[in-house]
Amino acid sequence: MMSSKNKRVVRMETTLGAEVQLAARARQVLCQNDMGDWTRAAPNLYPHQWSWDSAFIAIGLAHLSIRRAAKELLSLFKHQWRTGKIPHIVFNSEAPSGSYFPGPEHWACAAASPDAPPAPPYTSCLCQPPVHAIAALHIWEVAESTGGEGVDEARAFLREIYPKLLLWHGYLMTHRDPEGSGLVTIYHPWESGTDNSPRWDAALAAVEVGDLPPYPRYDLRHVANPSERPTDADYDRYIWLVKLIKRAACDEATIYSTHPFLVKDVLFSAILVAANEALLQLAQVIDAPDRDRNIIAGWIERGRGGLEACWDSHRQLCLDYNVRTGKPVRARTVAGFAPLISGGLSSERLEKLLQTFDSSDFAGNPKLRWPLPPSTGSSERTFDSHSYWRGPVWPVANWLLWWSLVRVGEFERAAQIRQASLDQITQGGFAEYFDPFSGVPLGSIDQSWTAAVALDWLAARKLQSVNMDAA
Ligand code: DGY
Repeated sequence: MMSSKNKRVVRMETTLGAEVQLAARARQVLCQNDMGDWTRAAPNLYPHQWSWDSAFIAIGLAHLSIRRAAKELLSLFKHQWRTGKIPHIVFNSEAPSGSYFPGPEHWACAAASPDAPPAPPYTSCLCQPPVHAIAALHIWEVAESTGGEGVDEARAFLREIYPKLLLWHGYLMTHRDPEGSGLVTIYHPWESGTDNSPRWDAALAAVEVGDLPPYPRYDLRHVANPSERPTDADYDRYIWLVKLIKRAACDEATIYSTHPFLVKDVLFSAILVAANEALLQLAQVIDAPDRDRNIIAGWIERGRGGLEACWDSHRQLCLDYNVRTGKPVRARTVAGFAPLISGGLSSERLEKLLQTFDSSDFAGNPKLRWPLPPSTGSSERTFDSHSYWRGPVWPVANWLLWWSLVRVGEFERAAQIRQASLDQITQGGFAEYFDPFSGVPLGSIDQSWTAAVALDWLAARKLQSVNMDAA
């Protein structure tokens, strides 16, 4: 009979073997979507470079090649607008026509803005959550822990990207927060990255859609069932909002004074706080002037203050704020964990957030296939287990929560998210999102950022066990 010690060794070897296989599959997905200096977000549904996807992709790539990870971010930042904005899409001129809508032709007029970068390639004039400084710091940390030539390469990369990151964050803290609230205003649900989340329902419902020529829904060709994607009514509003932004010639002040959709996004704002913390560390590494550091420290303080003002003590979550109506957005979604992501929260606030996290709305629902939080609280009237951000579980959102839990020292809970996410991906593949109850993979297959976060989780195994031992 096998002793219990031997059984443990066999179990560990089996786990290790499975992890090695999963890492090889993740690497394959990233290779297949690799375009040389940047990575397609997904092979068919998203054939271009998306801003926050690229940041997560760089986090995974850091474990494969420091140089390639750095290139991923640098190639995106080549298309920075004069204002500092990083566009949410840089269009791939090699993508087959008819593969994505709204494609480059639809955005070409954005290139006429005096602030736009040289085109082609065309870019959109929206932006997405600023995970980039977090990714840059990650590249540095991986290089440092591996040692060798990578360290010099990573330092040179930081010197190149740092001023661009500073400009990007400066854009968000000024143009996107003219009130000085500490919260970022978004002009379109696509800017949140959580397109059809119930967070945007009320603000979208108030948008009166004018004359729209017919347009294609290419996205529906690439999913198993149209119910996995936003509805036609959502799309009409998305396309109408783009039309209004183009009509305003992408001018920030004009948009701010005329646009019907202006919402303070707490998830975006929290990511910016965490990214500013990362930027402060980068400033240290490259020995940036004290002036920069004071500015960044001020941004962090302002961001945390803004998030504090959005705390809803009844829901025990943070709520977005509709600038047009002056009202909070009362929806229980995963974005409400924003203070966990921004960090610097009191132990009392952390306790409340963790209670919500463990509740039946989120990771504590006994019907869940894996104990991972659905993107929308399961008791919300708008909850839908199949539809994009209205219920499905997103590995990339869980990476953010895992990373944030490690930052606040909640190692055990972080380890659970990591393991459940790896089990989910091992079983369902590198899907964009998953049905929280059945575990069925949804959306795109072979999504690059799912592969990237899986690689990072796999690489974090050692770190995780050291922290668990210390806890
Ligand atoms: C899409 O096309 O689904 C994107 O989220 C827009 O950026």
